[in-house]
Amino acid sequence: MTATTTVTTSATKLDVINDFFTRADKCLMYTGVPASPVVITKALGTRLYDASGRQILDFTSGQMSSLLGHSHPEIVKVVTKYVGELDHLLSNMITEPVVELAERLARILPAPLEKSFFLNTGSENTEAAIKMAKCHTGKFEIVAFSASYHGLTSGSGSATYSAGRKNGGPTMPGQLAFPAPYAYRSPFKKPDGSYDWETELEFGWSMIDRQSVGSLAAFIMEPILSTGGILVPPKGYLTRMAQECKKRGMLLIMDEAQTGVGRTGQMFAFQNEEGVVPDILALSKTLGCGLPLASVTTTAEIEEGCRESRFLWLTTHLNDPLTAAVGAKVLEIIERDDYCQKASERGEQLRIGLQRLQDKYWCIGDIRGRGLLQGIEIIADSVTKASGSDLGQAVSEAAMNNGLSCNIVSLPGMGGVFRLAPPVTVTADEIEEALQILDQSFNQVLTKCGQMVP
Ligand SMILES: Cc1ncc(COP(=O)(O)O)c(C=O)c1O
Repeated sequence: MTATTTVTTSATKLDVINDFFTRADKCLMYTGVPASPVVITKALGTRLYDASGRQILDFTSGQMSSLLGHSHPEIVKVVTKYVGELDHLLSNMITEPVVELAERLARILPAPLEKSFFLNTGSENTEAAIKMAKCHTGKFEIVAFSASYHGLTSGSGSATYSAGRKNGGPTMPGQLAFPAPYAYRSPFKKPDGSYDWETELEFGWSMIDRQSVGSLAAFIMEPILSTGGILVPPKGYLTRMAQECKKRGMLLIMDEAQTGVGRTGQMFAFQNEEGVVPDILALSKTLGCGLPLASVTTTAEIEEGCRESRFLWLTTHLNDPLTAAVGAKVLEIIERDDYCQKASERGEQLRIGLQRLQDKYWCIGDIRGRGLLQGIEIIADSVTKASGSDLGQAVSEAAMNNGLSCNIVSLPGMGGVFRLAPPVTVTADEIEEALQILDQSFNQVLTKCGQMVP
């Protein structure tokens, strides 16, 4: 009787899910992103829940955005207040939360970064930053890393080399790619086998100088390339890049969509190298903690240059009060509760645990990252380091079945790389739980395909 009931219940559950995806297939357009097989009905803190109450640890913070976990009570309070009394206005009406957010950013950012405006997405703010660079310098060439991701709108997508480049027609004129600092796979090696980033960097600039038509406007970069495979530039790299940009009269646009606002253990990841200050800073994902908020911050001088060249950026949700109030609260909480330090500590715990897994499983080729942005590169061959994206995909699916959501990026020419970016509110117990699930999932997949040893 009990068994029959169980069978009937799970058959019904499956029917409900199948019916849901049939409905979804009928009315939702496919945009190149395969749907997850899980249907989430609730998200709270670090956990996701499906209709049956099954829990899944969210180690991607949604789309790398829910920095304080899902539905943080203070964020819920701010949203409730502002949706009830000051949600959205004519774009030229400036409100208190917008000024407060801009003031907070000016206070925590190094001089001379002091002038901000607010948009919604990471594609939109990098698009705006690129246009600002063009207006201010009067030039049009934009350089980006060969593993970059800055969005998919026309300008931002033209500076994105990791995904979405094919079959959309010509990119913007003047796009140049620079070798991404990929220590694990770079062909630039010193005689002792270590990464020769200085030679790679000089090679990269020599290629840019040869290709440029003399109109270099900006280099747009992430301080740690996330979608590109959690590529962490070696110490000194950002300083050299800032110097090389300056030499050529180019602006440095720092895109901290995923790294900004404490995740890597510092408020901004570019602060890992003293003295590096971008000309334009673009924040998005983490600033809105899951709500659509993005910022662009620059210097008074660049603002003036843009004004003189009649820069225009006017969108429906420019400087909206509701999302700005959320951003101000996010910054307040991160500073007040010392979440940079916490991200650093929990990140260290995560990294040590991942290194233990690396010692245990041959298919983990590399562990890299900073703070609560960590990557695991999966290989299919321990000698050639051939891409292990299929294996990574299988582990990712097993982890989801076992109760952990983590993201595997499989880009051409790279191995599959897991990105782990839990909220900065993650607890030590949740990190241990995730590590256990990963351990179990690697074990299951390698046992199943008979590859416990390479
Ligand atoms: C570094 C970076 N910049 C820009 C974007 C684009 O942001 P959005 O998807 O909000 O347009 C992303 C998205 O993943 C990103 O990671």
